[in-house]
Amino acid sequence: MVHFRSAPELAELLGSWSTGQGPLYRKLADALARAVDEGALRTGERLPSERELAGVLATSRATVVGAYEELRSRQLLERRQGSGTRVAARTPTPRADGRVAGGRGTAIFQRLIDGPGPLISLACATEGGAPEVADTLNDVTRYDMTELLADPGYHPRGLPELREAIATYYTQQGLPTCPDEILVTTGAHQALVVVAEVYLRAPSRVVVEAPSWPACLDIFRAADAELVPVGLDDEGIQVPGLAAALAEGAPALLYVMPSHHNPTGILMSPARRRRVAELAAKHGVAILEDNAYTGISYTDEDEPPAPLAAYAPSGAETLTVESLGKAVWGGLRIGWLRGPAEIIERCARRKAFADLGTPIIDQALAARLIPRLGELAARRSAAQRERLEVLERLLKDQLPTWQWRRPDGGASLWVSLPDANADVFAQLALRHGVEVIPGSAMDPTGQHDNCIRVPFTFTPDVLSELVHRLSRAWNELQRHGPSDCDPLRPII
Ligand SMILES: Cc1ncc(COP(=O)(O)O)c(C=O)c1O
Repeated sequence: MVHFRSAPELAELLGSWSTGQGPLYRKLADALARAVDEGALRTGERLPSERELAGVLATSRATVVGAYEELRSRQLLERRQGSGTRVAARTPTPRADGRVAGGRGTAIFQRLIDGPGPLISLACATEGGAPEVADTLNDVTRYDMTELLADPGYHPRGLPELREAIATYYTQQGLPTCPDEILVTTGAHQALVVVAEVYLRAPSRVVVEAPSWPACLDIFRAADAELVPVGLDDEGIQVPGLAAALAEGAPALLYVMPSHHNPTGILMSPARRRRVAELAAKHGVAILEDNAYTGISYTDEDEPPAPLAAYAPSGAETLTVESLGKAVWGGLRIGWLRGPAEIIERCARRKAFADLGTPIIDQALAARLIPRLGELAARRSAAQRERLEVLERLLKDQLPTWQWRRPDGGASLWVSLPDANADVFAQLALRHGVEVIPGSAMDPTGQHDNCIRVPFTFTPDVLSELVHRLSRAWNELQRHGPSDCDPLRPII
C-alpha cells in the first residue's frame, strides 16, 4: 500500500529545516534529501502537493516547487502523471507507522541529539543541575568510594541504599513502601520503557491524556499499542471520557501525569485521583502514573497530594514513575518505578536485559540527595515561579491576545493562540530564531493545533529575547500571513 505523508507530518519530520544560511528552497531540498537518505521517507511514499506543504511550512509555493524540482534533478523524487510527487526507488523500506495523527516526540528527541545551536529552543523544558549535586559528589568520592569499590557494582534493581531511601520517601508521603517495591532506572524515561515492554503485547490499547508527553506516546507506539485519548479539565483527566475509554476494548494501561501534567501544568485533585483509581480498578486496568514534575509546584498548599497509588483501592495495580530530573538534575539520569513487588521483579529482568543496572556512583549520589528532595524541589519551585512571573508579564505586555491557564506546577505555559494554526506559526517562529513545538505534536489526535508549549526554564534575559522573537513572528503572521523572509542570524 502506498503511504501518503501529510503536510503536517512532513513538517514535523523536517524539524528546524529553515535555519542556517542560503535560500529557503535549497534548505528545504537538503532537509528532504536527508529524510530520504536516512530512510525516514520511504521509496514510493507520496508527498503533499506544493500548495499544501507551502501552507504548513509558511513559505511561498515557489519555495516548495523549487525544492521538489531540485530533488527531481537529483533523482530523489519523481513525479508520476496523476499521482503527485513520490520518493524515487532507491532506499530500503522501514516499517509503516502512519496510524496516529499527532503527539510525536520527533522534534524533542532531535533537539537533544543536535544540541541547542543558534535557536532558542522550546523543545526541552529543563534547566541545569542544582549546586547540591557538586557538594554531594564530593562527599561520595571522599567517604563512600572504599565501600562502593568493594562491591561488584552490578545491581539491576538498583543500589540497595538508594531503594531504601526511595521507599522511605514514599512512606513519609503516606504511601507505605518497601525496597522490594522499587526499581531504580536510568531516568523516568527508562521506567516508562520498561513498563511498556512488560505490559504491552500487540494489539494492546493504552488510555492516555490529550494532550500528553509525546516521548512517552512514542514509547507506547514502539510497542505497537493503540492510543486512546481522553481530554483534561482543571482537575485532571476527565471522568466521563475516562470511564468510556476504560470500558471499551480492555486497555492494558492508563497513562496519566497527576503531579504535574506536561504540558498543561495541571495538578490532579485528590478527589479526581480517588475517582481515577476506582475506575481503573473496576475495569482491571493498571495505572501508570508519571510524576516526573512532582515537587515543582506553584500552588500555596503546604501538603501536595500523595501519589495516585495512595488513593487506589486494595488490589488495584498502580505503577508510579518519578525521577530526580526536574527537581535536581536531568544529567544524573536517575529515575525509578514503584509498584507491586512481583511486577518490579519482572521489570528488573527487562532492566537487566537493557543495561545490567544504572551506574553505581550516580546512584550513591542520589541516595544522599533523596532525603533532601523536598527541600531541593522547594528551592527550584521558588526560582521557577519567578521565571513564570517574568514570562507572564512579558507575554501580557507584548502578546496580549494569547491565553493560558496559570500552571499549578511543571515548567511550561500551555498557550492558546487566537485564530491561528500553531504548526504554521512554528514555521514562522523558526525563521525568527525560536524552535516552537506546536500543540499537535503533543496530542495523539493531532488536535490542540492552536496551542504551543512555552517553557520558562530560561534566564530572564533569554525569556525577554524569546518573547521579542515570538511577537515578531506573531506580528508577521497577523500582518501578511506566512511569507518567505531572510535567513536566520545566529543570536545566542
Ligand atoms: C512527563 C515526563 N516524563 C518523563 C520524562 C523523562 O524524565 P527523565 O529525565 O527522568 O528521564 C520527562 C522529561 O521531560 C517528562 O516531561
